[in-house]
Amino acid sequence: MRPAPGLAGKEGPMRSHADTGRRSDCLRPTDPELLSDPLAFFHEDHLREREICAMLERIATADVPRSFEVTHVLGFLRDELPLHLEDEEQDLFPLLRRRCEPPDEIGKAIDRLVGDHRRSDAQTPPVEAALARLERGGDGLSPDERERVVAYVGHTRNHLIFENAIILPFARLRLTDSDLHTLSLRMRQRRGLGRPTETTHAG
Ligand SMILES: [Fe+2]
Ligand SMILES: [Fe+2]
Repeated sequence: MRPAPGLAGKEGPMRSHADTGRRSDCLRPTDPELLSDPLAFFHEDHLREREICAMLERIATADVPRSFEVTHVLGFLRDELPLHLEDEEQDLFPLLRRRCEPPDEIGKAIDRLVGDHRRSDAQTPPVEAALARLERGGDGLSPDERERVVAYVGHTRNHLIFENAIILPFARLRLTDSDLHTLSLRMRQRRGLGRPTETTHAG
């Protein structure tokens, strides 16, 4: 696969909301207001996932994990991650398959990422179960659980790097304004949000 021409590695329009102070500290769910710019929302969700990985790593290595981090990561795994995976698999990936050109070889990249998602489907529940036990006041993680969490973090980080390097640059390059509008509406619907209020201009 070739990199997205002239875009791989750049932050492009994603930089704008960071500059304007709209970017969050990643310590809470991604701001739904960003759904008006769905690729910015994906970018932000990935930053958030990176922060969750850092928390998971601390939980895996601490003698006594911080309870607020355990609860926070559990909330992410239960409530936010499933939405993110659906955003990608049901909307972003199909749009990219439709819009990318054969030399982009996007199909191979997406097949790999969907494979990662299936692995995540299998690996997330045991991580969740271990964290839930901690949350209920259980002893620290067993060596086996620590290993599982560290492996989970490693896979997730690789996945994020690949999506940020390949998927988002191609999305910025290939998706049309109409695609982005559809993507925004679908992601809003998935979260039970209506259409954004349209501003009407007189005259
Ligand atoms: Fe992602
Ligand atoms: Fe993904």
